[in-house]
Amino acid sequence: MTAIDNERATTERFPRELVRRLVDNYRNKTLDHCEAAITEPASVFTDPVRFQRELDVMFRHGAHIVGWTGELPRPGTFVTKDVAGHPVLITRAEDGELRAFRNACTHRGAQVAEGCGEARRLTCPYHAWSFELNGNLAGQPQSYAFDALDKSTLGLEPLPVASVAGLIAVGLSEDVDPAAAFADIEPELRWCGYENHEVVCQHTFQLKANWKIAFDVNLETYHVDYLHRETLSNLVNHNPIYDTFGRHARWGFPTVGVEHLVDLPEDQWPAVGPASIIHTLFPSVVLLETPVSCQMFRIYPGRTVGECTVDLTEAALTPVTNDEDRAARKRGADFAALVVGKEDFPAAEQCQRGAEIGLKNFVFGANEPMLQHWHRTWNEALA
Ligand code: FES
Ligand SMILES: [Fe+2]
Repeated sequence: MTAIDNERATTERFPRELVRRLVDNYRNKTLDHCEAAITEPASVFTDPVRFQRELDVMFRHGAHIVGWTGELPRPGTFVTKDVAGHPVLITRAEDGELRAFRNACTHRGAQVAEGCGEARRLTCPYHAWSFELNGNLAGQPQSYAFDALDKSTLGLEPLPVASVAGLIAVGLSEDVDPAAAFADIEPELRWCGYENHEVVCQHTFQLKANWKIAFDVNLETYHVDYLHRETLSNLVNHNPIYDTFGRHARWGFPTVGVEHLVDLPEDQWPAVGPASIIHTLFPSVVLLETPVSCQMFRIYPGRTVGECTVDLTEAALTPVTNDEDRAARKRGADFAALVVGKEDFPAAEQCQRGAEIGLKNFVFGANEPMLQHWHRTWNEALA
């Protein structure tokens, strides 16, 4: 799949050719689909041996999208992230460069920062070793006690980091190249304008479900009329588009209002098409573009095969100008959190129970191409 012409993104929320495909699907009552249904052994959600391989191959030795570069708007800013149980520190030091480190003090491992903010130095809460934002050790109480060690080797341990179309990508081990990991989809992501995004709020969910089931619930509209009967069914149409970019994928669906575009000449279409476009990034990040916001779901394995954590961060497309604006955006985000928290994630936990009581297979229909893509992709990554 080729990337969208970036020029058009300057005046339209969604690229015209995607909206055109969605309108065509709606008009023709069609959807992008696979050739046939497939099955996947339910044990992929319960097998502790496979789970350890997933942790090793896809998470500890993987590259991960963790946020937006706008979270570090100036030199002197930092942000911390939990990435699949790994505390990560991202900084923009005085030289303006983006850096990532293990958020682990080189004295004995305590986290040197939490949350986000601006600082000249970060000071470990345990024995107050302090670090510059470029990672260098800046000070130690009773420093004579450490004279036997070369202080230049006691800086924070760096991790690979890259900006990918305005997203922050980090590697959890030294040998990972985060820019290369997302190179197949980076040109496509440019139309999203991530450089200008500002985080509005964040929700964290702990689920009794395998991380792949929590991921799967974001990837089809098939369930919307039933599971979301009271909340989303009047807003969403079942005519999705679907494309892959190497390991990564994109899908999208038309929303309420698409019916007005069907007979309208294209030059009269609104700048904001009635649609949601979703990018899914290996191994487990979902970026949902709505007409007014972007939601990032980071889905990570928990301590056991049957648990996971979902971090939902809502970003405004442009910097928030006042408190009223912020409150309105937060209400939108809280509604999304309510729907996933009360409807999608309980369904994910039910599916997990089905897998745990010995169901043989899960089925992914021809109408669920994203699920087929992801299970194939994860299996290939482990092969
Ligand atoms: S663990 Fe950080 S100063 Fe001791
Ligand atoms: Fe849903």
